[in-house]
Amino acid sequence: MKINEVNTPAYVIDEKKLRENCEILKRVQDSSGAKILLAQKAFSAYSTYPIIAKYLAGTTSSGLFEAKLAHEEFYPENDKNIKPEVHVFEPAYNDDEMEELCNICDHMVFNSLNQLEHHRNKWEKAVHDSTLSVGLRINPEFSTQSDHEIYDPCAPGSRLGIRLCDLPDEIPEGVEGLHFHTLCEQGFEPLKATFNAFEKHFRKYLTDKNHKIKWLNLGGGHHITKDDYDREGLIELVRYIKETYDVEVYLEPGEAIAIDAGYLITTVMDVVKTEKYPVLILDTSAACHMPDVLEMPYRPPLKDSGEAGEKEYTYRLSSRTCLAGDIIGDYSFDKEIQIGDRLIFEDMAIYSMVKNNTFNGMALPDIVLLHENGEVNIIKHFGYEDFKMRL
Ligand SMILES: Cc1ncc(COP(=O)(O)O)c(C=O)c1O
Repeated sequence: MKINEVNTPAYVIDEKKLRENCEILKRVQDSSGAKILLAQKAFSAYSTYPIIAKYLAGTTSSGLFEAKLAHEEFYPENDKNIKPEVHVFEPAYNDDEMEELCNICDHMVFNSLNQLEHHRNKWEKAVHDSTLSVGLRINPEFSTQSDHEIYDPCAPGSRLGIRLCDLPDEIPEGVEGLHFHTLCEQGFEPLKATFNAFEKHFRKYLTDKNHKIKWLNLGGGHHITKDDYDREGLIELVRYIKETYDVEVYLEPGEAIAIDAGYLITTVMDVVKTEKYPVLILDTSAACHMPDVLEMPYRPPLKDSGEAGEKEYTYRLSSRTCLAGDIIGDYSFDKEIQIGDRLIFEDMAIYSMVKNNTFNGMALPDIVLLHENGEVNIIKHFGYEDFKMRL
């Protein structure tokens, strides 16, 4: 089957592009000595895990379900004997889930001293019996973004990470690592500035001779696979941290792994005249299939299109849901758009499949894999039962 034969709407994962991203990350990993993890919250289409696991050191999870998925599915192609690392961070862990998490995770990061102590009995047993290593998420209180406060864990009043003023002079017994995550879709300079602030204020915990910290996790939000990312700068920083403090360094990007490695293909169902631009009613929806478009908000790239007014025919792209604001954006084209035309949204692998929903009873888009030889195969087809079973 070819890509123009798939039923729409469909998310199409581009295997070639996914591999290219992973190859870049592997080179950074090999040259810097960092361990790079897939943050599954951005992308968990697990049929591709055997590809990604060939290159990366493991995964990180936002809770039990993602951790289980990684534990079950994240193995390199044809080699189930290799066991990539499973990490987890949650602002608060459920008592009932702790034991299972302790059994399947290699790293567990706590967001507060309360949480660390509340679960101490369980994790201490796992540390003793297995390879579990426990860390604390800290808040370096160093914001590097002003555009999207909802994605800024250093914004005033943030619940994410322990501030320096709330940490004891000595790291609590049993804690082996520190974690911070502060960036969102950013280049190397903001990471460097954040690390400098972290080093200045938290250095004593890295150099304490009586209590050796073994690892430092620099979180996600690094756009490492973008062409203009300063990868040499990142490699140098990781080497510096490893050499100076004798710690393992982890990076856990989500976006960077599958950025530009997926499309959302949609069909034009109607063209409605308005006093402004004509509106294309699509068989996809921002609210249901690309919620970040409304949440962030942002204008997704669309193949062969321009800004409003840039090309001859401008349309407002919208959806068949009842939500008046379910608008994807205004785009222009060289030719008039007809009912039945197919449009291709780009960069739709990340934060799409993991966030979609069936509001209005909208069907979920199929998940399709585009192989390097141009053939596609349907990984998942969704229908009425998927809508009904959740309600
Ligand atoms: C703790 C943590 N790690 C990693 C990530 C992945 O970030 P990104 O997909 O922006 O690289 C996130 C995203 O919110 C996060 O909260």
